[in-house]
Amino acid sequence: MSLAKVIDFNLMNDDRGGLIALEGNRNIPFDIKRVYCIFGVSSGVERGYHAHHELMQVVVCLSGACTFVLDDGKNKEEVTLNSRSKGLLIDKKLWRVMKNFTSDCVLMVLASDYFDEKDYIRNYDEFIKIVKNDTFS
Ligand code: TYD
Repeated sequence: MSLAKVIDFNLMNDDRGGLIALEGNRNIPFDIKRVYCIFGVSSGVERGYHAHHELMQVVVCLSGACTFVLDDGKNKEEVTLNSRSKGLLIDKKLWRVMKNFTSDCVLMVLASDYFDEKDYIRNYDEFIKIVKNDTFS
């Protein structure tokens, strides 16, 4: 099963330009409680290096491009985001690294919950222990 679940948004394009609509529990598979953006990332910088206990997120690349490496503790998968009409669904308990940001990259992230540092797993060894325990429980 693929780790990188990409949602295709309906792109409404006409001679005035383009439009996409994102709706909680419709084309976004959760209630949207938070939206944040990442931009102005310097060349060579990598971000992420964490997973979440419960949070689900959908990432939309509004401008430029960047690459996500997703890791479930067993498999790793890379996906490059460079389209406003696609959303990358990042499920809970997936380690993510973001890299290869173009200087014009703007990411919009829709999240299923409010910010909570306690939901982060920022240590890779701890992440591996958690996903292994989940597999055997
Ligand atoms: P972090 O999630 O570590 O960023 P990334 O994974 O992109 O490297 O967040 C960076 C900082 O911003 C960290 O101190 C937590 C803070 N933050 C908030 O206060 N609210 C938020 O919604 C997010 C996502 C981060």
